[in-house]
Amino acid sequence: MATSSITREPEFPVDRLFLDRWSPRAFAPDPIPHATLMTLFEAARWAPSCFNDQPWYFVYASEASGLAKMRSILVEKNRIWADRAPVLALVCSQKQFKHNNQPNRWAPFDAGAAWMSLALQASMLGLCAHAMGGFDLEAAYTTLGLPREKFDIHAAVAIGRRGDPKLLPEDIAAREAPSGRKPLAEIIRVIS
Ligand SMILES: Cc1cc2nc3c(=O)[nH]c(=O)nc-3n(C[C@H](O)[C@H](O)[C@H](O)COP(=O)(O)O)c2cc1C
Repeated sequence: MATSSITREPEFPVDRLFLDRWSPRAFAPDPIPHATLMTLFEAARWAPSCFNDQPWYFVYASEASGLAKMRSILVEKNRIWADRAPVLALVCSQKQFKHNNQPNRWAPFDAGAAWMSLALQASMLGLCAHAMGGFDLEAAYTTLGLPREKFDIHAAVAIGRRGDPKLLPEDIAAREAPSGRKPLAEIIRVIS
């Protein structure tokens, strides 16, 4: 079942999919079935990309030893809640195009599209995917053995089912609700 969107009112009609996705911090530790997790990455796989280069790359953990490594790279503010998530992933992208080895300046854009596909697919399956910029980049490269010259690491992501917000520290629980957005007029400009 998708999460509630009661506090989210669009200015123009959009599919509820876009309103129902949000980033909770209360995760239930129950494992995500492997096939379900693969469905999330499968959704990411079909994102558009420059030259169809598909520069996105996901490093994930769902078992104890991998999760311990992933948790160790998160900042404390995120660990407080993300430690309970049954899956932690890093959204990365390859820096160079595969066809000519030239720098691919669109790779972060493409990885962002892939991450959003993953997040929307998660929401459609009643799961939550919460992106985090709060992680130690250097530790991520070292701990996960990713070559710096080849990969950018954009974000960590906690994936799982929604848990009991009462288990969160009080200040975090107080913020546990879908957020609003700027008015549409602030994010578009027509050129004539
Ligand atoms: C790149 C990126 C980095 C983020 N970093 C963090 C983070 O470190 N910690 C956190 O709790 N939330 C983080 N978030 C979640 C945002 O705060 C959240 O997406 C935003 O407030 C909008 O809310 P919504 O996702 O519930 O719609 C991040 C989101 C993105 C896309």
